[in-house]
Amino acid sequence: MKKLFFGALMLGLMTACNTDNVSNQNEAPADEPTVSAAIAQRGCASEEIRQEALKNNAELRQRFTDLEINTENFAKGVKFGKVLADGTVEIPVVVNVIYKTTAENVTDARIAEQIAVLNADYSGTNSDASKIPSEFASVSSGDTKVKFRLVNTIRKSTSKTSWSTNDDMKKASKGGIDATNPTNYLNIWVVGKMTSQGRTILGYATFPESAGLWNDGVVIGAPYFGKTGASAPFNLGRTATHEVGHYLNLRHIWGDTNCGNDLVSDTPTQTTANYGKPTYPLYNTCSGVQRSVMFMNYMDYVDDGAMFMFSAGQKTRMQSVVATTGARAGLRVY
Ligand code: ARG
Ligand code: ZN
Ligand code: CA
Repeated sequence: MKKLFFGALMLGLMTACNTDNVSNQNEAPADEPTVSAAIAQRGCASEEIRQEALKNNAELRQRFTDLEINTENFAKGVKFGKVLADGTVEIPVVVNVIYKTTAENVTDARIAEQIAVLNADYSGTNSDASKIPSEFASVSSGDTKVKFRLVNTIRKSTSKTSWSTNDDMKKASKGGIDATNPTNYLNIWVVGKMTSQGRTILGYATFPESAGLWNDGVVIGAPYFGKTGASAPFNLGRTATHEVGHYLNLRHIWGDTNCGNDLVSDTPTQTTANYGKPTYPLYNTCSGVQRSVMFMNYMDYVDDGAMFMFSAGQKTRMQSVVATTGARAGLRVY
């Protein structure tokens, strides 16, 4: 008898802890047996215990708040179609065009072309993916599960002929365009011409530690944006592919110093940047070890036509940034 009573009690507790949003149309009417009323009164201790613990522990309160924000953002992402069924995160993009000449005022068609290049390259469906050497096929990223969707284009004319890398193009007060909500949108600024110390700059980007700041986003020189009318050998839209890689936390493949570290284990350590169109295989020696290097990676400096892959390790780094717990989780929310 005692044992039976205990069993019923446990069942009652379990039932009380279990909630869902299924309609209760088959539930027994309220005036039914008193047994169920008694069970309902016992309730579940979890929430009370939690409230008591939260009251006494500030760190726990912080963790509670963070996790609810994450949960809410995840739900929003799913609801608005930002996160597709297969986990792909679709990043909303705002393109800010600051132009002096007509050529610099890149057309809507060219912007669409650039977004299409990003989508092809980040999904591994770029036509030149077939050129990936078999040696690197097993570590190629395939679909990184990051997609891009153009949500707005903002245009502004300027009398400025040249820009530097000091972020002026991101300030309306300096003749630029202020970022649109950089926590939730990838802002791309297209400017006519950019130099730094007398050198032409194709583009530059902020890394994820800048997520949501006023200057967060990617800048591209108009001649290197999109394909049609762009300037060879940087006319396949890969400057954006490269810069968005930085925006999603990828470092240059050579680690920005001789035989440096890009924090990706499946990209072979290489001495330095490669330019032009290197011939495969290309060998570098670092710390006495000779390796065939992955110069066809988007994070090297080769011509647009010579780069056509991300690695699986790079995909992992990018995924971690757009995850619900990542620095750029805001991109999952409209
Ligand atoms: N930040 C690099 C630069 O300005 C971009 C390199 C892009 N490479 C390319 N093939 N599009 O030089
Ligand atoms: Zn770079
Ligand atoms: Ca590496």
